Amino acid sequence: MSSGFWGPLKPIDEARDESKRLRPTLSWPHLIALGVGAIVGTGIYTLTGVGADRAGPAVILAFAIAGAVCACAALAYAEMATLIPTAGSAYTYTYSVLGETLGWVVGWSLILEYSLACSTVAVGWSGYLVGWLQSAGIYLPTELLGGPHAGGIVNLPAVLVALAIAGLLIGGTKESATFNIILVIIKLTALAAFVMLALPAFQSENMTPFMPYGFTSHVENGAARGVMAAAAIVFFAFYGFDAVATSAEEARNPGRDLKIGIIGSMAACTIIYMAVAVAAIGAVDFRALAGSSEPLALVLRTLGHPFAAWAIAAAALVALPSVILVMMYGQSRIFFVMARDGLLPRSLSTVSPRTGSPVRITAITGVFVALVAGFFRLDEIAELANAGTLIAFIAVALCMMVLRKRAPELKRVFSCPAPYLVGSLAVLGCLYLLFSLPASTLERFALWNLAGLVFYFLYSRSRSLLARKG
Ligand code: ALA
Repeated sequence: MSSGFWGPLKPIDEARDESKRLRPTLSWPHLIALGVGAIVGTGIYTLTGVGADRAGPAVILAFAIAGAVCACAALAYAEMATLIPTAGSAYTYTYSVLGETLGWVVGWSLILEYSLACSTVAVGWSGYLVGWLQSAGIYLPTELLGGPHAGGIVNLPAVLVALAIAGLLIGGTKESATFNIILVIIKLTALAAFVMLALPAFQSENMTPFMPYGFTSHVENGAARGVMAAAAIVFFAFYGFDAVATSAEEARNPGRDLKIGIIGSMAACTIIYMAVAVAAIGAVDFRALAGSSEPLALVLRTLGHPFAAWAIAAAALVALPSVILVMMYGQSRIFFVMARDGLLPRSLSTVSPRTGSPVRITAITGVFVALVAGFFRLDEIAELANAGTLIAFIAVALCMMVLRKRAPELKRVFSCPAPYLVGSLAVLGCLYLLFSLPASTLERFALWNLAGLVFYFLYSRSRSLLARKG
């Protein structure tokens, strides 16, 4: 067993281990649908409002910055995913390239990315549900519509949607992925309709002043402000393409399919977001968007399209669960691989002989996601999910660059162009976004990692399959 400064290195050949594989059932249309299914969600449907609150019209710039950083990370991901096409993505790459301890830190951060993204979307979904029901004259008790931080007891719709999706995944990968394609079509049609209705109402006055709160992230009267503060939260809108990498082991033809899956879904979503952001900000004063829990519906109502507003909310309700589906799927696979490696209890990696999916781990993920969604606020959850994701992206870009130096002879199915430039831009961009998050989020993130390291040194390190073999 080879070992680095950060603990044992999982041999790359072992990372490609054929035994105990998940069943390869997915081809590239499934993977693009998985990518778009995970990417387009609460970020564009809801956080556009939070972004506008923080940056003003320059939320458009915030989208561009977050998108550019994600594009660099996506290129690094594509190279690593095709080089090590195994479930576990950033966690497995880091384990193989930088060592077990850092691999653990990344795996632990991925829990934030995947699980908390699911919780965020569940809360966003609940927001659209409330608005949609209210437009039909139905009012639910507020105690059941938000956790204690949001003036209620529990966000019941968010809990229920999270548990329902977990049930779907337990039912089996194939059916869920096909169902996902239908939801993706609904979601994209709604956004296209939004752009067609809102863009003709574009008024250049709505774009000035373009950057009312300046560029850097800062706090003004207790509120996060600045383009970078907005970029640090709307970053949420862009990730999810890595869920495609996470399902590498289940791809029928990883070399070709993953490349198309990751780059294709990323490019499509960036174009869609720019169009939606310009249409939304151009159509109404940004202050109207700020703070809305259903900003796209609000724009359409303001423009005098009540039916379209109702329809876009309905589309969000039907389609946002596809994001939860893909992210929860990714999470269960990360847990699965960590358990298979012995870093989490191995009993968790049992695969159902009937559906081929890891049932126990999916159920645990579902309950965790539901609890967070039930009791915490949207922005709190989204920011913490972003912190975890940024760490994973940094790790993947580092792994890509280290491996180029250490093993240049490895045959790369997809080669990241200008790897050191793109990799460095990804690392620096992610660091800048990370430190543009509010201090309270960074504190919570540090605590989360501390807890993870305690678990690692008390439990996982001695049980690691690799360390025991060594
Ligand atoms: N990018 C995903 C969303 O916006 C997580 O919902």
